[in-house]
Amino acid sequence: MPKAIISGMGMYIPEKVYDNAYMESIVDTNDEWIVRRTGIKERHASAPDEYTTDMATVAARNAIADAGLTPEDIDLIMLATVTPDYFTPACACVVQGNIGAVNAAAFDYNAACSSFITGLVTANQFIENGCYKHILIICADCLTKATDYKDRATCVLFGDAAGAAVISAADNAAGILASEIGADGTGAKFITSLAFRNDEDEIEKRVSGRKDTIWMAGQSVMKFAVKAMADSSNRVLEKAGLTYDDIKLVIPHQANYRIVDSAIKRMGVEKEKVFLHLEKFGNTSASCIPVALCEAVQQGIIERGDRIILVGFGGGLTWGAALLEF
Ligand SMILES: CC(C)(COP(=O)(O)OP(=O)(O)OC[C@H]1O[C@@H](n2cnc3c(N)ncnc32)[C@H](O)[C@@H]1OP(=O)(O)O)[C@@H](O)C(=O)NCCC(=O)NCCS
Repeated sequence: MPKAIISGMGMYIPEKVYDNAYMESIVDTNDEWIVRRTGIKERHASAPDEYTTDMATVAARNAIADAGLTPEDIDLIMLATVTPDYFTPACACVVQGNIGAVNAAAFDYNAACSSFITGLVTANQFIENGCYKHILIICADCLTKATDYKDRATCVLFGDAAGAAVISAADNAAGILASEIGADGTGAKFITSLAFRNDEDEIEKRVSGRKDTIWMAGQSVMKFAVKAMADSSNRVLEKAGLTYDDIKLVIPHQANYRIVDSAIKRMGVEKEKVFLHLEKFGNTSASCIPVALCEAVQQGIIERGDRIILVGFGGGLTWGAALLEF
């Protein structure tokens, strides 16, 4: 049976930077509060005429080149976003056209910030059953376009980015050793951004009154996130019959330093084994994990054969973890 390996990684970060001094200039906040409560110092914002598919297209091209492939080699494109350019067409189709991946099927999906792991687990099925050889997973979001810049509790958190990975079939590879994905829809109300619904109580929560901005119950999300990430990571480790001594790097969703810190204490893994970049990018939704993975590879922190854990949580509520041999 072929195994799924990550054969290429790519990313895109928009140029414009919103640092904490800029956040101080638009809402009643300060650098000390933001750093102490979140660990974030800067986030990047897409240009007014730059959208999810524009960022996704660059990340996709980079990942395909990194894999040593051409767009024609890709069999399937799965794109995760909570900030699509359109309700229809799917962003995945737009990217397919942009890059000329003429042989690829394409669809969007949404497990919010858990989407990269959800995509990986799904791609693994298509690879292991022999259906596809090369699958492109793209996570891309323009969260700054869905941010309520009058709400100091959320606007300091989000940034824009795109991350992509090519998942390829390989013989004689270990691939994904253990994984899980999960959801708890009773927590759907904790992170929301409205499409057609006009729920008055939801609109009232938004300082700007713009219903398509992201609102969240920060404390409830935090409580869920710590337990979901730690327990999920521990479960995949146990499933694989390994311990954190066997793991080179843990890449968690980069939402808030305090969440990651509490989660890694609950996991029992050393801080040195955890990759963080949230200081410079903030929470970029599903892109956090593939961008972090891409950086870890580019910085030589992980190499082929290293065992890593990817673990995340997000709106839905959703969570997931994957233990793989890179
Ligand atoms: C949003 C978050 C940083 C807020 O931190 P917190 O410690 O929970 O803070 P609270 O919401 O309890 O607010 C504490 C106080 O700080 C204030 N505050 C909120 N944002 C602030 C800001 N940017 N600057 C200054 N003060 C702020 C609040 O108004 C509140 O003031 P009060 O005590 O006078 O009412 C935190 O809850 C969080 O990160 N949650 C998880 C969110 C997340 O990960 N979402 C992504 C899901 S993928």
